[in-house]
Amino acid sequence: MNNISHNYGKYCKPNLVNQLQSLSLDIPYHRGEGNYLFYNRKGKEIKVLDFLGGFGTLIFGHNNEQLLNALKKGLDERIPFASQGSNRREAGDLAYELNRMIKEKLNEDYLIILSNSGTEAIEVCIKHCFYTQYHKHKKKKEQIEASLKKMSNKWGDNLEIDASVIKVIKNNFPEESIHSGFTSIATLIKNLNDNIFERRPVLIGLKNAFHGKTMGSIQLTYNMEYKRELCHSGPKTIHVCASNTDELQAAIKNNTACFFSLSVENKCLKLIEHPFTLVAGFVAEPIQGEGGMKVIDKDFLVKAAEICRASDVPVVFDEIQTGMGRTGTFLFAEQVGITPDYIALSKGLGGGLTKIGATLIPRRIFGEDFDKIHSSTFAEDSFSAIVAKKSLELAEDKTFLINILQRSCQIKKGIIEISAVFPGIIEEIRGVGFMLGLEFKIPEFSGSNCLRLLADQDMLGYVISGYLLHEFDIRTLPCLSNKSVIRIEPSGYTTEDECNYFLKAITRLCEILYKENIYELCKFMVGRHRSETSAPIKNYRKPSFRKQTEQCEKKVAFIGHFIKASDMIDWEDSFERFTESELEQIIETIYPLISPFVSDRKIVTSVTGEKVQLDMMGFIITSTIIARHMRENNLQPLLKKINDCLQLAESNGCTMVGFGGFTSIITGNCKNISMDTISYTTGNAFTAAMGLKAILTEAPKLNIKLENATFTAVGAAGNIASVYSEFMAQYVKKIILIGAKGRVENIISLALKIFTSCIHNIQAVPENEITGIARALMMAPSVKKLKTVELAQTNYQDLYKYAINELGEDFPIVTTDEISMIKEANLILCSTNTPNAIIFPQMLGKHAIVICDIALPFDVEHSVRSMVNVKVIEGGIVRIPNADDFKIPGILLPKGTAYACMSETLLLGLEGVRNNYSYGNISLDQVKEIYQISKTHGFELGQAKLERSF
Ligand code: F0G
Repeated sequence: MNNISHNYGKYCKPNLVNQLQSLSLDIPYHRGEGNYLFYNRKGKEIKVLDFLGGFGTLIFGHNNEQLLNALKKGLDERIPFASQGSNRREAGDLAYELNRMIKEKLNEDYLIILSNSGTEAIEVCIKHCFYTQYHKHKKKKEQIEASLKKMSNKWGDNLEIDASVIKVIKNNFPEESIHSGFTSIATLIKNLNDNIFERRPVLIGLKNAFHGKTMGSIQLTYNMEYKRELCHSGPKTIHVCASNTDELQAAIKNNTACFFSLSVENKCLKLIEHPFTLVAGFVAEPIQGEGGMKVIDKDFLVKAAEICRASDVPVVFDEIQTGMGRTGTFLFAEQVGITPDYIALSKGLGGGLTKIGATLIPRRIFGEDFDKIHSSTFAEDSFSAIVAKKSLELAEDKTFLINILQRSCQIKKGIIEISAVFPGIIEEIRGVGFMLGLEFKIPEFSGSNCLRLLADQDMLGYVISGYLLHEFDIRTLPCLSNKSVIRIEPSGYTTEDECNYFLKAITRLCEILYKENIYELCKFMVGRHRSETSAPIKNYRKPSFRKQTEQCEKKVAFIGHFIKASDMIDWEDSFERFTESELEQIIETIYPLISPFVSDRKIVTSVTGEKVQLDMMGFIITSTIIARHMRENNLQPLLKKINDCLQLAESNGCTMVGFGGFTSIITGNCKNISMDTISYTTGNAFTAAMGLKAILTEAPKLNIKLENATFTAVGAAGNIASVYSEFMAQYVKKIILIGAKGRVENIISLALKIFTSCIHNIQAVPENEITGIARALMMAPSVKKLKTVELAQTNYQDLYKYAINELGEDFPIVTTDEISMIKEANLILCSTNTPNAIIFPQMLGKHAIVICDIALPFDVEHSVRSMVNVKVIEGGIVRIPNADDFKIPGILLPKGTAYACMSETLLLGLEGVRNNYSYGNISLDQVKEIYQISKTHGFELGQAKLERSF
């Protein structure tokens, strides 16, 4: 079905629309009138004050009546839209007006090349700069050639040759042997000049500039993001800073070349150098709009123009955004006080109705044939020319220009006052006329985790725009190359009241940011109703966040994520006002947009006094979303984020990265990671150690005696179940290994492994110290009579079978696919990968039971948790030494404690381990080793873990 509201995203800009959608900025406006845009919300037409102004295009507002009338008149008269190759009256009229206006202001006689967009107007500047340079150099080269020709008629072969001539020829034509004759040397010099003539011209632009996105102009645009793939093509460009002219001067100096000619003095052939610059143009956007509304210092521009003039470099002013009265004068060049060689106009020239660009080129340098070699089918169309001519008339109007300057002052003054009331929120209000930038700055020490995140991720500007749009019906957007700056480019007819309304909105926004009430800021994202603008704003401002500044040699990182959306309340207090499903909606919206970041930094001190720094790598996502990616077999985007986390951790000097929650699962217990310059751990070894410790701690509380207990592993084929079973075999009387239906063979090898290690144990320790399964096995005569010396020749598989025969019902290791066997168990480990719960109250025995459920999702049905005599745990939580206030926002654990996987990362950091640790399958030996390490550093079981951590 053709759903027109989706076509733009589906057929034009899928990625952009996704992003806009995330921030509720994907509004389908159906009408624009004056200073307003209109859209329908729930059947009601909403009127939006447009302070973005079509990226500066709408200086005369939307569908300006006078411009519409001019256009309508043209349409009514049926003037031809396209009459290429004829005397184009409308284009001529427009050019006449533009020439007249600018001659009055800048005292230069410009010809006008019309085009269809801003970038094209810049392309024409570039092209003409190259055109001029070509002809200038060609002329010089030909003059030299002519003079050489003339001289060769005069001079024969008997000339002395100056060393400078020999040097330059040797340097450039090392293969050539030098003949003394004038003609042969003149030929080489001519060839050399031909080569030099081929050198590519250079353009100089300013850092941070924006000039468009076509192949030429994009090289002048500074932001690498736009031209990653294009940086080796197109015109050669150098970007210099605008704070002083040193870089400009150096760039011109470093890009000089030289033609050579010859002279004869006292019968000696000498070299003459004719230096020239390769710089074909210096291009400046006097107020950098897209780059953050930065006004370039006027003194810099004046001085730069002088330097350029002295070096024969033309100056190009990109007034595409600053022109047409936006800064209170028709051109900004008038305020700077210089007359550029080229001026590019667009945006407002088309009056918001037509697409048009204009390049102004002085008549004195226009050239013989530029207008013939440059053309465009649509340039000079009559309708855009009619509208543009009318636009010029509107832009000359004094009251219009004065209004822009007065309203601009009003906004600037208002913002400065707001800033004084809510300090530390607004960095600066800058710009000229209606080309203003409002820069927000959230301090690094803001107590709000969410605000720090939004600022870190360059998202604050978008959220602010969303807020202003949904709470105040004001349209703005951040500058794309400087996203903490909100563009303020309203129409030149904006009234005092409209500016006051804007200031009112900014006041409330600043109060919200100051009070760190992120709920108020973000509630538009979940479609909550707007607040009354006078409603009090609850203060959530927290004491400053103290960034860890202590230096620590050992550094580790841990990748963690929220378990459920409501954990975000622990991370950001004001989120308490959202419901669980709203929080889910928020996280669903933002998780694709956020790249990894260091959300917190802690230093942990071992009881040995050693220290390790922990960088908490924020991975804004929930278990539910990760599980969905797993189900949909779409892990690539998440693995990419994990890889970015690793890169960041490495660049911060971390040597070990721990994988929390689902991140270890989706990386196949770290095995699917290719980066090998940093070590990883899933933390599974210490997680198992603490789980076992928790079972051993909880059992006596329910009066379960281990030596009489039966341990059951449900889902025994897995690695973790195997480790648990091997360990429990040391303590319990009987082990039941339950495998998947019809898959008993998968667990026989585990049974045999346990059996073998018991046999070794029996041989290794005195009889009275033998415990657990080994003790039960000693009842089998074939086991009992086995001698240590016979161990090497023992076939354990056979011995296992004999022992089963001998002990029958009393054989202590049972392998089965019958889940009902858990009835006997006192200690149960669940680790199946079945999608639904499989253990229900009626399946359990009447005695006391400890269940450790590490399955994902749970194996134990919820009601089992409320049974008396049954304790369901999910592992162990670790108490961190010397850190009673250890707390990571968003991880809901008591202060001073951490999950075992994070603790393993810390332990490995303290130990200086530099290889992957819990990686792929883990072994019982590893579990024992990490447990010993934990004892060295004073990490202890804090409590049994009762809630799912992933
Ligand atoms: N020069 C300047 C100063 C501009 O601001 C722009 C566009 C261009 C050239 C290119 O014009 O888009 O018509 O090809 N600026 C927009 C902006 C995109 O965000 O300010 P175009």
